[in-house]
Amino acid sequence: MSEIELRNVCKEYKKGYPIIHEMSLTLKEGGFSVLLGPSGCGKSTLLRIIAGLDRETGGDVLIGGKSMKNVLPQDREIAMVFQNYALYPSMTARENMEFGLKNMKIPKNEREIRISRISKMLGLEGHMKSKPHQLSGGQCQRVALARAIVKEPKAFLMDEPLSNLDAKLRAQIRRELIELHNKLGTTFVYVTHDQVEAMSMGSEVIVLEGGKARQQASPDEVYANPADLFVAKFIGAPPMNIVDVSALSKFGVAPKAEFIGFRPEKAMIMDFSATCPDGCVFLAGSVAARENLGDHSLISINTKAGMIIAKRFGERAFSEEKAMVAVKREDLKWFDEEGKSIRT
Ligand SMILES: Nc1ncnc2c1ncn2[C@@H]1O[C@H](COP(=O)(O)OP(=O)(O)O)[C@@H](O)[C@H]1O
Ligand SMILES: [Mg+2]
Repeated sequence: MSEIELRNVCKEYKKGYPIIHEMSLTLKEGGFSVLLGPSGCGKSTLLRIIAGLDRETGGDVLIGGKSMKNVLPQDREIAMVFQNYALYPSMTARENMEFGLKNMKIPKNEREIRISRISKMLGLEGHMKSKPHQLSGGQCQRVALARAIVKEPKAFLMDEPLSNLDAKLRAQIRRELIELHNKLGTTFVYVTHDQVEAMSMGSEVIVLEGGKARQQASPDEVYANPADLFVAKFIGAPPMNIVDVSALSKFGVAPKAEFIGFRPEKAMIMDFSATCPDGCVFLAGSVAARENLGDHSLISINTKAGMIIAKRFGERAFSEEKAMVAVKREDLKWFDEEGKSIRT
């Protein structure tokens, strides 16, 4: 059992200034749970509390149903992977992997077997005698991963492990991590501020803001039905269009709705003079910018409700100066005055 449960966990570094507010979360055994949020929202703090590297001010962390109150980090059977790799600079890749195993008093032959299997899995066989300064960033991160995996922990905690890598390598290691998770079947808890990483890797995403969990759901659900305006605006590139209800009021709005949201790909652009299809709301405006991004283009339209961004796939560029944006009523999301989603 390696389910991780947070029960009313709070953290204050300074009295009266909570960094984590009474957080209760269950991270499924064998899941790939991604904690996603902007810089400073408390992601690393939360991970360090789970690892036991930092102490919660209140509440409890349970791993496999067992309270971790008096359990030291090294006894929690979890392994952590950091953004800066945190490898021992004077040790070779192999020694870095073996160090933790020696501490765990794993016999030599078992150490050999594990190191050989994992170094093969991560394509590190040719680099085992190299020291960190002789390795590229991607290789260092693979050594850091290997060092965590050989310990055969109950769970992996990863704190922005890809953020020091360039975009191409990041995409590659992202796929390797998905594959690794499938192979190992171990609980992964992964922290990132990058929504692309969260959406592409997570079996579930927990969106954090200001030390609070805004939503915990599958990537599809977080994208399609954001729990509030913060999530709606944080997920998606470009994010959801949000307009004030007053801009569309005559079409009959959900009770208590103050804001309306729709994804850029749900915004259909038509000629200014076109007749709007039934069951749609529409906004007229002028084209402010066009961005051609290969398989799709983004068109910004200045309307009385503010700037609307529409995404068009593989169609001819929209060349008119004036345009009509139409959105099917079923593609609209409603939010109340506090920004909370209203399900209709
Ligand atoms: N050791 C510390 N002492 C005081 N404040 C800290 C400490 N560590 C983190 N913080 C503060 O806690 C907040 C959350 O930090 P952190 O968990 O690192 O956020 P994230 O990883 O999401 O960027 C930040 O405002 C940060 O300044
Ligand atoms: Mg951090």
